[in-house]
Amino acid sequence: MKRLVTIFTANQWKCIAVFWAYVMISAVLVSMMLATTVIAGESERSHSEQQLLGAYLTRVGNCMGCHTTKGGQPFAGGRRLFTSFGIFVTPNITPDKETGIGLWNEEDFWQALHQGKSRDGQLLYPAFPYTEYTKVTRQDANAIFAYLQSLTPVPQSNPPHDILFPYNFRPLLAIWRALYFKQGVYASDQSKSEVWNRGAYLVQGLGHCNACHTTRNVLGASQDDALVGGQIIGMNWYAPSLSSHLEAGSSDWEIEEIVALLATGITKRAVASGPMASIIRQSLQYLSQEDIYAMAVYLKSLTGNEKRNIPAVKFPVMSGSLQRHLNFGGKLYEKYCQTCHGVDGEGVPGIYPALAGNRGVLMNSPFNTIRSVLNGGYPATTAGNPRPYGMPPFQQILRDEEVALVVSYIRNAWGNRGSLVTTVDVDRSKGGND
Ligand code: HEC
Ligand code: HEC
Ligand code: HEC
Repeated sequence: MKRLVTIFTANQWKCIAVFWAYVMISAVLVSMMLATTVIAGESERSHSEQQLLGAYLTRVGNCMGCHTTKGGQPFAGGRRLFTSFGIFVTPNITPDKETGIGLWNEEDFWQALHQGKSRDGQLLYPAFPYTEYTKVTRQDANAIFAYLQSLTPVPQSNPPHDILFPYNFRPLLAIWRALYFKQGVYASDQSKSEVWNRGAYLVQGLGHCNACHTTRNVLGASQDDALVGGQIIGMNWYAPSLSSHLEAGSSDWEIEEIVALLATGITKRAVASGPMASIIRQSLQYLSQEDIYAMAVYLKSLTGNEKRNIPAVKFPVMSGSLQRHLNFGGKLYEKYCQTCHGVDGEGVPGIYPALAGNRGVLMNSPFNTIRSVLNGGYPATTAGNPRPYGMPPFQQILRDEEVALVVSYIRNAWGNRGSLVTTVDVDRSKGGND
């Protein structure tokens, strides 16, 4: 060692020290550079992960369902939504700079989704369900935005809304919002499980179930966020209560059956029809198993609205003359319906819904049942039910009196008990869009 020390002069030692310092610093710099490239790679990856998450959340929110016309370019808007306030035409939300949201940034998008304001500050109509989307977290909103911005821009201008006076005067929305709009991200209920909270977040927020499953006042404002059910504006469909077992509440259902209904649209005792079939086809069938399960846990926990939904209509006493009246309906049933729905209204599991004990048929409001008979329809096409069997429309085959008779019959056969249906009800069920 001593020899080694004497090999170098003091100056030479200095040089070696500087050289080593140089090597060390370079090494640190290089490793830092490597680290930054790794970080950059990670952020690129997390960017595409964010877009993937955004694509998924966009499904949950069913943005495409409203922002696409039949046969049109996805997200380019132009779909007409009929309401009692007039016709809303959905805007283009592809990243086209002129006609879409290509010039928007994250902040603008958050303002739309969370506060219901457009980029220029204009107040948006609640036909865009920001009244529910306001519950979505900033992180999820950013992911949706990242996904929308990654789409191919579609230059497409859409016609303006065709809204009736005075609703066509946007500034009036300020009053509406002051009265009815509660802005705020979903707040977890600490007394409930994580799964329950995830379900509540999805149902109340992005899933915007309350956009339909609620009672609305004349100004189209939801009266309650407890999913109590109500007539859908402009659709002539009744969205049943999800919190009353007399309608579509699922407190007494097994979780697995709720999951199956949401994911496939059909179970042995229920089938989702009309607008609900669309929601399942366009949105719910794509949800992860965890999220559908979470939704089911939340839906199962909803109770407490039974009192409000106690049937207001007295069921008819089964007198001899009533029985004879219903027998006419029974004859029609035998002729037109029995081949599919069965002698005892038992249906065929997974193919034709049972009508005996069917909660949709037994509901106070007969409108969905009448609509099913008039217009026929298909359950949702889903991975779990890829080639659904349909029901033919009877509007051209049966007269209104006959529809009233056959619906009265199925509401009172095989142990079912419901109010009788009149030709006035049949007439009122016509029109509206799906
Ligand atoms: C029930 C139909 C419906 C659904 C579902 C829907 N939208 Fe819309 N959206 C509309 C309508 C209608 C408007 C126009 C509102 C207005 O003009 O005031 C709109 C407006 C918007 C706007 C504002 C555009 C602008 O130029 O100001 C954005 C952004 C938007 N929607 C994004 C979304 C996203 C993201 C989703 C899914 C999370 C979604 N929408 C789901 C109907 C819908
Ligand atoms: C566009 C309006 C609309 C939206 C949004 C909507 N629903 Fe529905 N839903 C309906 C209508 C109409 C019915 C009645 C027809 C039927 O029974 O399928 C219904 C029926 C149901 C039923 C009962 C189905 C049966 O046959 O027993 C369940 C459960 C349900 N909806 C859950 C949900 C959930 C959960 C969401 C949110 C993820 C949701 N709905 C969003 C319109 C809607
Ligand atoms: C060719 C077979 C077929 C015939 C005939 C048929 N149906 Fe259906 N029915 C179906 C199918 C399939 C569905 C599910 C359709 C849907 O979800 O939109 C259905 C649905 C219904 C529903 C809605 C049930 C629910 O849970 O929402 C009612 C009510 C109904 N049918 C009554 C009748 C009556 C009354 C007749 C005779 C006038 C009839 N059907 C004739 C196949 C049939």
